[in-house]
Amino acid sequence: MTNKRVVLSSDHAAIEMRQQIADHITAKGWEAVDIGPTTPESTPYPAHGEAAARRVASSDCTFGIILCGTGQGIMMAANKVKGIRCGVCSDVFSAQMIREHNDANMLAMGARVIDNATALKIVDAFLFTDFGGGRHATRVDMIKALED
Ligand code: RB5
Repeated sequence: MTNKRVVLSSDHAAIEMRQQIADHITAKGWEAVDIGPTTPESTPYPAHGEAAARRVASSDCTFGIILCGTGQGIMMAANKVKGIRCGVCSDVFSAQMIREHNDANMLAMGARVIDNATALKIVDAFLFTDFGGGRHATRVDMIKALED
């Protein structure tokens, strides 16, 4: 881990959930780099997914947490940026597994799918689970090879 910075972004569907996550991770000792948006107007999720992904791909932030209505669209956009491994999670087990097995560097969630309390549990599982390495590293290397 290069730093304890977590970039946060969302579309209009998840502004309140994003604020709660920012406060939560700050209380847990992480630096929340919240790149907005802050106003409720409709705004396209691909732009926000890309902006957050670039902060992670450049190593400015170690992790990214991105939100939209379902988490799906913003995840798809983030995963187009080289070096990003982002999974959508609606449960704690999946969040543990995308870190332990897939070495995910970004987490996506849907504010119209899960409630805020569930989202905070998922965030904790994501931030506090280490990559397992070993056979999982071989498989993650296969994902990385697909980028070239
Ligand atoms: C916006 O209405 C909605 O499409 C977006 O938040 C997200 O769910 C897309 O995947």
